[in-house]
Amino acid sequence: MTPDLLEAGARRVERHGIAPAGLNNTESGGRNASTGRISTPGEVDVTHGRILYLEDVSVSFDGFKAINRLSLDIAPGELRCIIGPNGAGKTTMMDIITGKTRPDAGTVFFGSTIDLLRHKEAEIAQLGIGRKFQKPTVFEQLTVFENLELALKTHKGVKASMFFRLDSQQSDRLAEMLVTIQLAGSVNRLAGNLSHGQKQWLEIGMLLMQDPKVLLLDEPVAGMTDEETARTAELFLTLKGKHSLMVVEHDMSFIRTISEIVTVLCDGSVLAQGTLDEVQGDERVIEVYLGR
Ligand SMILES: Nc1ncnc2c1ncn2[C@@H]1O[C@H](COP(=O)(O)OP(=O)(O)OP(=O)(O)O)[C@@H](O)[C@H]1O
Ligand SMILES: [Mg+2]
Repeated sequence: MTPDLLEAGARRVERHGIAPAGLNNTESGGRNASTGRISTPGEVDVTHGRILYLEDVSVSFDGFKAINRLSLDIAPGELRCIIGPNGAGKTTMMDIITGKTRPDAGTVFFGSTIDLLRHKEAEIAQLGIGRKFQKPTVFEQLTVFENLELALKTHKGVKASMFFRLDSQQSDRLAEMLVTIQLAGSVNRLAGNLSHGQKQWLEIGMLLMQDPKVLLLDEPVAGMTDEETARTAELFLTLKGKHSLMVVEHDMSFIRTISEIVTVLCDGSVLAQGTLDEVQGDERVIEVYLGR
């Protein structure tokens, strides 16, 4: 992290002290987070109250600025909703965080110490940033159980996975996950025979088996029935606090159910931020997005 960022972060911690619960204390309006330093090796340092931090990030494709000096941060355990018109740069932002796309300029940090721009895509996933693309990508010819088991295996590397057997703790986790993603009654069904919504939940379950600290979800309820959408909202609300979530969606009633802070992206940067009511009342947001 650059000295400037460290100083700014330290000033913010000093200014807030130990902030009372419910007070916003991330730069971009996220909910209050613990400022306790994590000392365990391999853990993410969230001393500055942010688990994900983007500053002044830009990327151009053939001269077109898809991301334009974007700055954003997410608090540990936060569920941040991202909305904005088609082409605003929402998916590209996720591509940058996960190492799929390299920005031309800017800073992207995981906690206070991990510079994500120094890591490859696979390393970023290993570090604990999981990503769900819009289209479900489960193994259709395998059962629900086998898909979840595979998610544990693939996290272990080739050699370890060849001799992989679920221990009792992992079996318990898998059983819990089946309940969490509401597929306990479909454990032996082929993933290919599940509904679209169930496939989405299975993929989320596969990501959760790897216990990610941050989960990025791109249009998770697109194509779901109303009932599946409502169940997905319930699922996300149970994940909040245990994981930090960044959810991109166009479905405003879904956003209303799950959102705390909503960030509106437009032309590759933050146009507005606040509660859904606040951003829905913002003239600029109505002009470029909601009033369409
Ligand atoms: N790899 C790429 N090469 C060229 N242009 C790209 C690439 N990726 C994204 N873009 C362009 O960058 C802009 C932002 O696209 P992006 O997919 O991030 O938008 P979005 O906010 O996710 O939109 P939507 O709501 O439609 O999913 C678009 O104009 C898109 O065409
Ligand atoms: Mg997109």
